[in-house]
Amino acid sequence: MLILLAAISVACKEIQDKPVVSRTDTSAKFEEPLRPQFHFSPPSGWGNDPNGLVYHEGVYHLFYQYYPNATVWGPMHWGHAVSKDMVQWEHKPIALFPDNKGMIFSGSAVVDHQNTSGFAKDGKVPLVAIFTYHSMQGEKSGATDFQTQGIAYSLDNGDTWAKYEGNPVLGNNGVKDLRDPKVFWHEETQSWIMVLVAGDHAKLYRSKNLKDWDNISDFGEEQGAKGGVWECPDLFPLIVEGTDVKKWVLIISIGSGGPNGGSATQYFVGDFDGTTFTSDQTQYKWLDWGADNYAGVTYNNTPNGERIFIGWMSNWQYALKTPTTPWRSAMTLPRKLSLQKIDDEYVVYNYPLSAVESLADVTKGKEEIISAGENYAEQHENLNNALVSFTVPKQDFKLSLSNEKGEKTALLLDASSNLLLLDRTQSGSTDFHYEFGNKLHYAALENLSNTLEIDIFMDASSIEVFLNKGQYVMTDQLFPSVPYTQLEIENLSTGELHIKDLQVRPIRSVGLD
Ligand code: FRU
Repeated sequence: MLILLAAISVACKEIQDKPVVSRTDTSAKFEEPLRPQFHFSPPSGWGNDPNGLVYHEGVYHLFYQYYPNATVWGPMHWGHAVSKDMVQWEHKPIALFPDNKGMIFSGSAVVDHQNTSGFAKDGKVPLVAIFTYHSMQGEKSGATDFQTQGIAYSLDNGDTWAKYEGNPVLGNNGVKDLRDPKVFWHEETQSWIMVLVAGDHAKLYRSKNLKDWDNISDFGEEQGAKGGVWECPDLFPLIVEGTDVKKWVLIISIGSGGPNGGSATQYFVGDFDGTTFTSDQTQYKWLDWGADNYAGVTYNNTPNGERIFIGWMSNWQYALKTPTTPWRSAMTLPRKLSLQKIDDEYVVYNYPLSAVESLADVTKGKEEIISAGENYAEQHENLNNALVSFTVPKQDFKLSLSNEKGEKTALLLDASSNLLLLDRTQSGSTDFHYEFGNKLHYAALENLSNTLEIDIFMDASSIEVFLNKGQYVMTDQLFPSVPYTQLEIENLSTGELHIKDLQVRPIRSVGLD
């Protein structure tokens, strides 16, 4: 990220620049090659982290790190889209522009129901965005206090925003990477809590009015993966499935040092007493083992308290080079988070919302028995818009999706080593960056049942693999030159392989009529 910042510093100007966002006719219909058909992607230009995820008055807001003037990272704005179901998105005008205090980096948004901020007017409840100001001038001058936290509010459900004249609401006394505030209302203490990252750990703050903040505790100086600076934190409660036990989950992204190289998202399960978050977790836990799920956070204020997560579907290793135009990057599917306790271990599951599955055709599952060493294959019109599901015993197998150009993506289960492997080395265009296709990606499996349920959501330029409805997840980008059409399952075990409930369900595009 720092290299990136340096690289664009020349081009960067801390002024209001107000480009017009528009889709071309073809992109409005999602007709460009590789354009995601049921994932959110910016109309054009560059996007990264999801920001300000909040539900208000029937609308899910998705703000995001956005640079409209090029398909590479630049002076950050908050792009904006809205949806009623988190599947069909409507693009809105840019919400927040850089100003003389800096670019608008990542952050969150809350609904200030009780008008603690005093921003309400004529009975209109304010939406308040809390974000990081990144001063390019400050960074260039060699200062270390160039990231501060600011707020802005909207009284028209996110359409227009006013920045608070008292910004920044939280200064910086020399912490180089101090950013990405996630704020939520804490009912028990009747206060706002902010979790912020500070280099290699997280800091918690409390406020009564979203303007005055006190540092109440720190977490993680001695814990967790530290392969890159900590970014994009989130802290929220989840009830352990099948119990009434409440635990707290802290999500932290790291820019490099993920299990398969580059960016990844780790989590800690523990307790939060209104002041301090503690976790006795000793091992690293990854929310997603794939290479392309970063900077994800969850929604505030969901109607029934559901914990819904969206991540940025890319990786800083090669994000600036992926072969799409006139936009670059997309979000993961919206996923519901849940917490399971398996053999004394807490596991955060993540699985797409049912609204996504309802885009898939209803088909009838079939059974296939494949002899040892044999293959089963079937042809389809377009496997890049499909949900492929089946159950399989915990035995070695390989599933490949391929096209007539010989490009293919494969998923392998190595049962004796407890590894799930995703192979995109020959998936299509890979040579835009040497890190993209240079190795197999793995997930290290623990506490696995004897029957595995597998769901694979394929879009034009991505694969999301869910094992046992989200116990293990792998998200990777793919750039095939033409869609995959052949599905093949190879039995790599020594006994018969019984595949059950095999379904290939075409998924409807949310862009094409
Ligand atoms: C994560 C991140 C954040 C920062 C934003 C800048 O991808 O580096 O820490 O706020 O991107 O665009």
